[in-house]
Amino acid sequence: MVSWLLLASLVLRCAANFGIPSSNATVDVKAFNVANFSATLPGVLVQPVLPGHETIQLPLHAFLVEHTATGKRFMFDIGTRNDTANLPPSVASLFASGVYSAQPFKPITVLLEEGGIPLNSIETVYFDHIGDMSKFPNTTGLVIGPGTNRSLYPEFPDSALQASDFAGRNVTELDFNHTDLTFSGLPALDYFGDGSFYLLNTPGHLVGHMTALARVTPSTFIVLGADTVHHPGQLRPRPKFQHAYPCPTELLEQSKTSVSTDYFWSPDTRTGMFHLPSRAQPLLSIPDLPDSADVNPVAARVSLDKIAEFDAHEDFFVVLAHDESLVPVLPYFPKSLNAWKEIKDQVLWGFLNETNPAYRFGP
Ligand SMILES: *[C@@H]1O[C@H](CO)[C@@H](O)[C@H](O)[C@H]1NC(C)=O
Ligand SMILES: *[C@@H]1O[C@H](CO)[C@@H](O)[C@H](O)[C@H]1NC(C)=O
Ligand SMILES: *[C@@H]1O[C@H](CO)[C@@H](O)[C@H](O)[C@H]1NC(C)=O
Ligand SMILES: *[C@@H]1O[C@H](CO)[C@@H](O)[C@H](O)[C@H]1NC(C)=O
Ligand SMILES: *[C@@H]1O[C@H](CO)[C@@H](O)[C@H](O)[C@H]1NC(C)=O
Ligand SMILES: *[C@@H]1O[C@H](CO)[C@@H](O)[C@H](O)[C@H]1NC(C)=O
Ligand SMILES: *[C@@H]1O[C@H](CO)[C@@H](O)[C@H](O)[C@H]1NC(C)=O
Ligand SMILES: *[C@@H]1O[C@H](CO)[C@@H](O)[C@H](O)[C@H]1NC(C)=O
Repeated sequence: MVSWLLLASLVLRCAANFGIPSSNATVDVKAFNVANFSATLPGVLVQPVLPGHETIQLPLHAFLVEHTATGKRFMFDIGTRNDTANLPPSVASLFASGVYSAQPFKPITVLLEEGGIPLNSIETVYFDHIGDMSKFPNTTGLVIGPGTNRSLYPEFPDSALQASDFAGRNVTELDFNHTDLTFSGLPALDYFGDGSFYLLNTPGHLVGHMTALARVTPSTFIVLGADTVHHPGQLRPRPKFQHAYPCPTELLEQSKTSVSTDYFWSPDTRTGMFHLPSRAQPLLSIPDLPDSADVNPVAARVSLDKIAEFDAHEDFFVVLAHDESLVPVLPYFPKSLNAWKEIKDQVLWGFLNETNPAYRFGP
């Protein structure tokens, strides 16, 4: 028994070694919540959809990444433009028809400038959500993931991108084929060349979808999860996660009756009495219906499985673009997210709390 435990802890420690080269170079990460979207077709984003949960709330997170050594600035995602009618029709129509709605909000370009961050100080942008790139000076470069579909509206009527998203600036399509860095199975590129900030190849949501690994102290990291999934319940719980972060007692007690056993099951669940510890997979899944928000749900699930390894480890904090459970608790700009270790324990299970805006597991 003892030797088995030793072996298990050894295995855990080996798994904890993601192959990330050691470095003392860091970045400072600051989060924005550009807007709170409400979407009326949650089934394209998450499954299952329970009665009473026919809408889903989606914050739009954007991240300012500042390289500590040089002050260079990188925007990881930029939310969306607030003049939604000027998005290409395939997206604008979703706002016009009310599938997406939001209270008036300021675009990230305004939030940055009001926060004392001149746009011409942003060296590079990566976007998964299409803000108004034309507001950035043409000295701001753009990086895109491998194979990103650059077909533009109006030549391609159903495209979500238009010329102004790329025009007049350097666009660099990253190539992960020749990197020898692989963390948790994810090919990585060392963006600043000193181990402070890595872009990760995580296709599935889109071809060329990327996430990032930001080193905020020599040994702690923020995983910018972008649209790997749209809800923390698609990431959690998994066995390794439950082992590392057991559900707080009060919430565990609550989940017995707050999680509907008509929709969720596990080996030790009985009708009307959900048993969380024996649940071996996340509560929510990535839809593979024809209208799924993910272009390749199979690839998206593999990328998710890889990202989930970080989620279960004490030195990593995964922040998704649309993680509604974080909105009440995340320190937002101008605060830094670097001290995330102070909040990780409190926020991980928030999505399961009936009073949390991300809760969607029971009537
Ligand atoms: C990081 O800094 C520590 C303390 O100065 C030093 O011992 C270590 O070698 C450094 N590591 C790297 C990878 O530079
Ligand atoms: C989003 O919602 C949160 C929580 O209700 C609120 O604090 C925040 O101001 C909202 N943000 C925007 C841009 O509307
Ligand atoms: C968009 O943001 C600008 C700048 O803050 C503001 O003037 C405008 O009213 C906003 N529009 C919408 C539709 O929210
Ligand atoms: C684009 O990139 C090239 C090569 O890195 C550089 O020489 C040029 O100045 C850049 N142009 C702009 C507008 O930043
Ligand atoms: C690229 O996007 C356009 C516009 O949405 C679409 O018509 C086309 O099929 C896409 N190409 C690929 C290879 O997915
Ligand atoms: C960038 O903008 C400047 C000033 O508007 C312009 O002179 C220059 O031609 C632009 N560069 C590119 C690559 O479009
Ligand atoms: C990278 O490899 C993929 C798969 O083999 C290939 O389709 C793609 O063209 C390669 N990209 C580059 C830039 O060579
Ligand atoms: C649910 O969240 C609320 C607000 O943060 C908190 O007061 C309450 O204790 C939480 N409930 C459980 C069961 O954790």
